[in-house]
Amino acid sequence: MEKDTLYVAFSTQKGGVGKTAFTVLAASYLHYVKGYDVAVVDCDFPQYSINAMRKRDAEQIGTDEYYKRLAYEQFKALNKRAYPILCSKPENAVQTADEFLESADTKPDVVFFDLPGTVGNAGVLKSIANMDYVFTPIIADRIVLESCLSFADAVNKNLVGKDGIRLKALCLFWNKVDGREKTDLYQIFEQAINELELPLMKTFIPDTKRYNKELSGDKRAVFRSTLFPADRRLVKGSNLEELINELLETIKL
Ligand SMILES: Nc1ncnc2c1ncn2[C@@H]1O[C@H](COP(=O)(O)OP(=O)(O)OP(=O)(O)O)[C@@H](O)[C@H]1O
Ligand SMILES: [Mg+2]
Repeated sequence: MEKDTLYVAFSTQKGGVGKTAFTVLAASYLHYVKGYDVAVVDCDFPQYSINAMRKRDAEQIGTDEYYKRLAYEQFKALNKRAYPILCSKPENAVQTADEFLESADTKPDVVFFDLPGTVGNAGVLKSIANMDYVFTPIIADRIVLESCLSFADAVNKNLVGKDGIRLKALCLFWNKVDGREKTDLYQIFEQAINELELPLMKTFIPDTKRYNKELSGDKRAVFRSTLFPADRRLVKGSNLEELINELLETIKL
């Protein structure tokens, strides 16, 4: 029997910690490398940054012979199309996905949602309650972390596992870790995370410039694209593959 489509969001209260980056990286990796079918709901109103990235990606492929060939080879081998990106107001995110599934020929295995920060936005909270899983990037900055943890704690205590709530778990993961190893500071922060009984992923993501590498005219390896997965050469040392594998275990796909 066909499995139900999972709804997954990278979400947090704060901006600039990696929601959009990981939505694209995870979607492209699962869709183009791991053999899953994916859809993305972009709720980044009004700029719709993932949808805008898809337009840039498509333009690059249209004008650059190197990427054109790469795309041709990839889609021929995969024998499927790029994943759809649906734009939606944050408060209608789930409805947008539900309607898409009703009319889709092949139901995706996962829908990723790029929701905006939650501060003062009841619509976003409603959408979060209707995810299957939420992954929350955190960074080792006391002020940012405090805000992220209070959000995560509230979601974990008030929503996860409650009657009529779809959300099964919220998992934190460290992003933008400076250096190859986590310093003592992280231990102190992790103690606070433990005390709140919040799940924390084993994998942490280093702070590295490749997280900003998009398709560009210079034909170098791409990391972030809606039409290609992160390049293997750049995935090495980024911990992206490890994060994706841990995510797949968590959502039991
Ligand atoms: N591990 C990392 N190393 C270096 N840069 C990173 C890393 N993760 C994310 N970034 C960069 O940090 C910036 C913010 O990331 P992103 O846009 O994904 O955050 P966001 O949570 O979606 O923010 P917003 O709330 O504004 O939508 C981007 O320029 C992104 O490329
Ligand atoms: Mg964003």
